[in-house]
Amino acid sequence: MAEHENNVPAPRHGPNRGGYQKPKDLRGTVGKLMNYLGRYKLQLILVAICILASAACNVGGAYLLRPLINDYILPGDFSGLAKMLAVMAGIFIMGALMSFAYARIMVHISQNTVAALRRDLFAKLQGLPLKYFDAHTHGELMSRFTNDIDTVSEAINNSFASLISCVATFVGTIAMMLYISPPLTLVTFAALAVMLAAVSGIGSRSRRSFTAQQKAIGTVNGYIEEMTEGQKVIKVFNHESAAIDGFRERNEAYRQASTSAQTFAGAMMPVMGNLSYINYAFTCMIGAILTIRSGDLGGLAIFLQYTRQVSQPVNQIAQQVNTILAAVAGAERIFEVMEAEPEVDLGKVTLVRVKYLPGGVQEETAIDTGAWAWKQPDGALIPVKGDVRFDHVVFSYDGKKTVLNGISLFAKPGQKIALVGSTGAGKTTITNLINRFYEIESGVITYDGINIRDIEKDSLRRSLGVVLQDTHLFSGTVADNIRYGRLDATDEDVEAAAQLANADHFIRHLPQGYQTVLSSDGGSLSQGERQLLNIARAALSNPPVLILDEATSSIDTRTEKLIEQGMDQLMAGRTVFVIAHRLSTVRNSRAILVLEQGEIIERGDHEELLDQKGRYYQLYTGQAELA
Ligand SMILES: Nc1ncnc2c1ncn2[C@@H]1O[C@H](COP(=O)(O)OP(=O)(O)O)[C@@H](O)[C@H]1O
Ligand SMILES: [Mg+2]
Repeated sequence: MAEHENNVPAPRHGPNRGGYQKPKDLRGTVGKLMNYLGRYKLQLILVAICILASAACNVGGAYLLRPLINDYILPGDFSGLAKMLAVMAGIFIMGALMSFAYARIMVHISQNTVAALRRDLFAKLQGLPLKYFDAHTHGELMSRFTNDIDTVSEAINNSFASLISCVATFVGTIAMMLYISPPLTLVTFAALAVMLAAVSGIGSRSRRSFTAQQKAIGTVNGYIEEMTEGQKVIKVFNHESAAIDGFRERNEAYRQASTSAQTFAGAMMPVMGNLSYINYAFTCMIGAILTIRSGDLGGLAIFLQYTRQVSQPVNQIAQQVNTILAAVAGAERIFEVMEAEPEVDLGKVTLVRVKYLPGGVQEETAIDTGAWAWKQPDGALIPVKGDVRFDHVVFSYDGKKTVLNGISLFAKPGQKIALVGSTGAGKTTITNLINRFYEIESGVITYDGINIRDIEKDSLRRSLGVVLQDTHLFSGTVADNIRYGRLDATDEDVEAAAQLANADHFIRHLPQGYQTVLSSDGGSLSQGERQLLNIARAALSNPPVLILDEATSSIDTRTEKLIEQGMDQLMAGRTVFVIAHRLSTVRNSRAILVLEQGEIIERGDHEELLDQKGRYYQLYTGQAELA
């Protein structure tokens, strides 16, 4: 069932919606990220310098403890000691300033980068075909913007610089330790080896449980989103307790996953802490023996200091690597969307405004004359009339199930053609194809004799007006919403369109008239009023061809009359495809096509079809249900 056609939330708690695995193509994705970061080359170099300087200050500043003890404290040179302390303080302050500097710069880089990512991702979404949105849920796409962008942001903000800083500190510390005492360093290496084994053991388990946790979050969020979107339906069908049960299940899975993830994460610190104390005790013991022989007390003090410091970066490196891997996986999902096949448009024929010169010659103009023409690549102008033809059109949404099976039909300029048939027969699909929302498998659709494949999509869609059953309004004023039909329309145009659509009257009775602000679903308006706005929107765009898909199906009786009048005025002089429940609204059509399972089984005008005593007759006389 087509999900966009009704509001019933289809359960989508499928397996792994987003896939929170490790990146599949680490190198490729990092390369793409680097394209974004590459814009900040100079800053990044500066960051690297600051990081190295800060690490050097930390490791080097600590080293000064050795001469401090050996040369000043032990001999009792207090004025020298004061000087030395000042130097040390200077170095540490320097290190702190450097850390502050690179952190600032990284914030700047990361925020600009993720803003660029968000911008490109959003722009990309606008260019994707409807087919893409059929296959990807809202929740999935939303999580590209939220979770995935967040992890990328977090990684660039902190992890990236931390990782480099940790590696630099680690290497610097080890170098200093080797310099002070190679034998003691061996003890440290042995301890580090044990720690690494522990880190990777706990780490891989913790990674696995974090992955499971991410997945569980996705499921819970998706469920909340679906159920909130479908609140009305849930209430109508008394599904609240079922919804709560469903939530309880997912919430419980999330709790279990989080508990195990946090358990491993929590185990890491104590285990590492204990290991490092054992290492410390060992080093102390051996160091004391060595010092008794060498007398380098300062050396021992600073070595012990390094011993305590050295395990810290090891810990952090593992953590940061995880965060960075998660970010790369997030970035990969973002790039997946960015690299999705965009809507292909090879159409070269465009829609232009024309004016008529004496002798009936047309000329392109920028002024709104109300007259349009198709401009061919060679510059030739073909007047827009609104002649639409299908010739043996075969179509399938998924490449498997044929939805339209050899449809042929024609609508001459100004004709009203009705499509009737039960739900799922393919009526809406026909209109989707005129709009070229989807590509047909075989056959031809022409518009004023031009294959619609040759018409630029924007132009094609501008020449078509669509009024659907589910009215979508955007947050903004009433006037803004009508102006959606033609962005450059003046206030007068907007009001004229509203009058034509019979919407003017109710709009004037709204608190702020045309300036009344609507929420994003127009919740404060009745279905009928929203529909009137939709009709006004279509009237404003003044299209030669109009598609009305069940436009009057869910209208309250109070507005029904208004809408029908509005519709009639809108339809006058245009080619119209009308799909309607109420056969009374299609009676006066020039031709009625009865569609069943993707095929036209009857065609003719109302009288002819009644005479045939076929399907239409059954529908009309109520012997068959029309959905
Ligand atoms: N976006 C879609 N993706 C896949 N199948 C779809 C989609 N939209 C409609 N269908 C299927 O195509 C068939 C025709 O649907 P539709 O044209 O909406 O019927 P109608 O408007 O006559 O009720 C149905 O079987 C429907 O489930
Ligand atoms: Mg339909």
